[in-house]
Amino acid sequence: MLTVDEEKRFAAEAAVTHVSDGMCLGVGTGSTVEIFIDLLVEKIASENITITAVPSSYATELRLHDVGITTVPLGAVTSLACAVDGADEVDPNLALIKGGGAALLREKILAEAAQQLIIIVDSSKLVDILGTTVPIPVEVLPAALALSIDRIQRLGGSPMLRQAQRKAGPVITDNGNFIIDVSFPQITDPKQLDSQLNAIPGVIENGLFPTQADIVYVGQDKGAKLLTR
Ligand code: 5RP
Repeated sequence: MLTVDEEKRFAAEAAVTHVSDGMCLGVGTGSTVEIFIDLLVEKIASENITITAVPSSYATELRLHDVGITTVPLGAVTSLACAVDGADEVDPNLALIKGGGAALLREKILAEAAQQLIIIVDSSKLVDILGTTVPIPVEVLPAALALSIDRIQRLGGSPMLRQAQRKAGPVITDNGNFIIDVSFPQITDPKQLDSQLNAIPGVIENGLFPTQADIVYVGQDKGAKLLTR
């Protein structure tokens, strides 16, 4: 039986095989992506290759700087060959919930820019129906907090403002917004719910990724299992 970190490492190892010399690569956020970055550093050193990276958060940007990988700002990018990111849940259709690290807005922009979005997860992230283990994070403009909460409740969601750790008050995202974590009883149509949430004025983005993932690598006992559409 593997530990969660061993599973994450298997998934990250599989993703690293997609990286080649000269690539500008999108790099998401989270603990699985951190393992991916460590493996990327090993690959760059052992194969003597050069890559640049587009980070999806300050956390990833700082980490990439620490390990000496040159970053390109997200705001400068319209298209990328590939991006690698984690997820909080993956359903059988490869629809995702993301945003556990509150980086969902930039992660969705990165996913849109990437011709191939590679998701790396441990096996605990696989679910039959989205929303089983985590709520959907929704990034909202602070000035629209009350209205967003009201409209989300009208859609049948139970919203909770995400509170910061080691700072009084709510989490403030890298974009200066709040995060509302929303539980829904059943998410049977992620695509429709994604549209409904984003149609609320003041909602900047939500953590449903219904169709963005092209490949999911799931770490498991014998290595990484490949899931494709
Ligand atoms: C951050 C994310 C992460 O990719 C997601 O939370 C998974 O993180 P981890 O690899 O630590 O489980 O969406 O906003």
